[in-house]
Amino acid sequence: MSREERELFELSLYGGAAEERYRRARPEIENLPWGTLPIGDLSERERLAARREWTDAALSEYGSAATFSITLRALLRARVPLDLSAMVARFPLDEIAHAELCARVTGELGGGTPLAYDRGALFPLPDAASENESPVFAAAARVLHEMCVRESWSLAIIKVLARKNRHPLLKAIWSSIANDEAAHAGFGWMFFEWAELTDAERRRLAKRAAQSIADLERALKKAEQIPTERLSRFGIIESIGKSTYLSESRRAIETRIKKPLTRLGLLM
Ligand SMILES: [Fe+2]
Ligand SMILES: [Fe+2]
Repeated sequence: MSREERELFELSLYGGAAEERYRRARPEIENLPWGTLPIGDLSERERLAARREWTDAALSEYGSAATFSITLRALLRARVPLDLSAMVARFPLDEIAHAELCARVTGELGGGTPLAYDRGALFPLPDAASENESPVFAAAARVLHEMCVRESWSLAIIKVLARKNRHPLLKAIWSSIANDEAAHAGFGWMFFEWAELTDAERRRLAKRAAQSIADLERALKKAEQIPTERLSRFGIIESIGKSTYLSESRRAIETRIKKPLTRLGLLM
């Protein structure tokens, strides 16, 4: 059973040999220009808004690490080629690194803010119904939702964030995340080149794709309704201007998601 929790979402490092191994795997994090955000330029309101947004981002990156672990299981169960599953085995580590990057920005801004989240939704179990599906179909349904829809949108908007953010720290963070997201989104399209699916399966997947896109459009509608005083130029959405954020996101849905899915017969 999931329930709403309100807590300070904090992440920590254990240190010693564990941290050394982690740093060796992701050396770029330590080399970013930390400590350079001119937070003195921000009003209290802007600082709080930015802390809130980066805390949310850290939580969602952290949740992605858990979600990709379930997807990896689905891909192993479908016995996809080893190089494909090896690619996805790295993704949880990427998302953990993204969570650290976002959490460190909240640290620079004065620390995380308490937030409520649904633990069951953030750390899902494998969907029981999908265990009765063919393993390839079950994996395809996850890859479609996570990589072809969510990660393709996220790659497109993060590339814009990397291009348009002026501050070197924020630019470097978005560039580093964009690098990983390119592999996450790219995997989705690679998987569908490999997967052999019947026409009936493609039709069923097309329904799911339409749902995933509708969910994403709903999330953007919610973002559109966030009042200006909840946003900050050192946050995420307002760092490139809300209207650019929304128009670029909607353009990505058309060109980076709907178009290729239609070409693959995965969207009617
Ligand atoms: Fe991420
Ligand atoms: Fe990702």
